[in-house]
Amino acid sequence: MTGNRTFTMIKPDAVENGHIGAILEKITAAGFKIVAMKYTQLSKRDAEEFYAVHKERPFFGELVQFMTRGPIVSAILEKDNAVDDFRALIGATNPDEAAEGTIRKLFATSIGENAVHGSDSDENAAIEGAFHFSGREVF
Ligand code: CMP
Repeated sequence: MTGNRTFTMIKPDAVENGHIGAILEKITAAGFKIVAMKYTQLSKRDAEEFYAVHKERPFFGELVQFMTRGPIVSAILEKDNAVDDFRALIGATNPDEAAEGTIRKLFATSIGENAVHGSDSDENAAIEGAFHFSGREVF
């Protein structure tokens, strides 16, 4: 059975480039309901914990530096089949491989600075949402 929630972040590159509004418009136009949202900035410790699964990767240091360099928008989104449908909406990790019309094709600049995050499983969506939001911040 698939879940109905996923977790996203609009990353520092997309915030810096003024794309918050356009990205939120794409998300809501695709039928996702925003059930939690905040404008915030990750500390180094936050980013290292959030991306702990990638800590042995060669790009880990670069990833932590990027994700902490400015504010982000984090949100929990609700829709049937949320994880898979959201991954389709954002497109491949590498914007060069992302399908036309996807958020990463439109707004990402590189494989590292790829505009948005989307959870890769229902289990991770729950973990990532709980990392960013307390129960009373989710509606
Ligand atoms: P995301 O899939 O949201 O979470 C892991 C992130 O690591 C990914 O987005 C990119 O921002 C980053 N990433 C993945 N692969 C690379 C890479 N080859 N070089 C730099 N950053 C990467």
